[in-house]
Amino acid sequence: MKRYLMTPGPTPVPEEVTLSMSKPIIHHRTDEFKGIFKETVELAKRVMQTENDVVIFASSGSGAMEAAVSNVLNEGDRAITVNAGKFGERWGKIVKAFGAEAIELTYEYGDFAKVEDIENAIKNNKDIKAVYMQASETSTGTFHPIDEIGLMLKEKYPDVVFVVDGITAYGAIDVKTDDWNIDIGITGSQKALMLPPGLALLSVSEKAKNVIRKNKNRYFYFDILGEIEAKAGKFTPAVSLVVGLNTSLKMILDEGLDNVFKRHETLAKATREAVVALGLELLSKRPANSLTAVKSPENISSTDIITKMKELGVDISNGQGSLKGKIFRIAHLGYFYKPDILMCISVLEMTLKKLGYSAKFGEGIKRAMEIFLDE
Ligand SMILES: Cc1ncc(COP(=O)(O)O)c(C=O)c1O
Repeated sequence: MKRYLMTPGPTPVPEEVTLSMSKPIIHHRTDEFKGIFKETVELAKRVMQTENDVVIFASSGSGAMEAAVSNVLNEGDRAITVNAGKFGERWGKIVKAFGAEAIELTYEYGDFAKVEDIENAIKNNKDIKAVYMQASETSTGTFHPIDEIGLMLKEKYPDVVFVVDGITAYGAIDVKTDDWNIDIGITGSQKALMLPPGLALLSVSEKAKNVIRKNKNRYFYFDILGEIEAKAGKFTPAVSLVVGLNTSLKMILDEGLDNVFKRHETLAKATREAVVALGLELLSKRPANSLTAVKSPENISSTDIITKMKELGVDISNGQGSLKGKIFRIAHLGYFYKPDILMCISVLEMTLKKLGYSAKFGEGIKRAMEIFLDE
C-alpha cells in the first residue's frame, strides 16, 4: 500500500535527499567531510536567519533542548519555562532534572504565551537567568509571539538568555533568530528540514556563549562550546545525515526562504479553512503554519479517525496526553505541496462520513480548492 505521512515529525524525505544520503560513507576526519560540514553549518545559518554559531548534534531534538539547559543553567539557577503543551512541559522537566528552578508559566492547551506574562514573571521573580519556550508548540499547533517576547527581553532584560525551541518552526515559519534576539534557537532534522530523525541543530549567540563559559559544567556529550571549537563534530558526527542536511538546506535556499514560508502559509490556510468549512473547530487560538490541530466532532474519538485514515494509507497524528482521542493533527511542514493537502482533506471527509459525521460533506475539499485557485 502506498503510505502518506502527514505527521508533524517524522515528515516525508525528498528523493534527492535520500539519494544523497545513500552515497558511500566517508570518514569524518577527512578534508572532504570537514568541507561538507562547514558548508552545511553556513547553509543552516542562512535558513535559521542568524550570524551566530550553529552546532549540529547527533541526537533527536530533545538533545539540543537538554544542551540548552545543561550548558546555560547551574544548579539552583532560576528560569522561566512556558508550558502551553507537551513540549513546553518538557522544558520544565529538563530544567528540574539539572537541579535548577523552573518558574512555569502555564497556559491552557491551545492558548499562547503573552509578552506581559513573561515580563511580569521576570519582574516578580528575582535573578531569572533564562526564558525557555517553543516557537511552535507541536502538541497544540500553536505559534507563540516569540518576536514580541524577544524584543521585550532585548529592551528590558538584556541579560536574560532567550532560548527558543523552533523544532516545528525553522524552515516552515519565518523565525528571525537574530532580529528577534533569540540567543539559542533549536531545530531537529525530522521536521521542516525534510530529513530522517537523528540531528539536532542549535544556534548560539555571543551572549549565550559568555554565560556558558562562566558555568560549572554538568555535561559531557552535549558540549556546545566544545562542538563549536571542534568545527566538524567533537565526536563522530552522523555523517550521512549531515550529507542529507546539506542537500535539504540547499533545496530550501534554492526555493527561496520567502517562497518556502509562503508555501507553508498557503497550505496551512487551506487546511484550516477546509476543516472549519466542515463544521470542525481548531484547537489553537494562534495557529502555526506548520501543522493544524483540530477538535474531533462530538461523539467521535480522534483515535477512530486516525485509525480509519491509516486504513486508507494516510498517517496523521493523535492528540498527546489529555488531548488523546480529542484532537487530531495534520502536518504540513517540510516536503508538502497543494496536492498533499487536497488528498488529506478528501480522505478526512470520507473517514468522517464513514464514522457518521456527514454534515457539510464536500465543503472542506471545496474550500481548500478555492483557496488554491485564488493563489
Ligand atoms: C516543538 C517540539 N519540541 C521538541 C520536540 C522533541 O523532539 P525529538 O522528538 O526530536 O526529541 C518535538 C518533537 O515533536 C517538537 O515538536
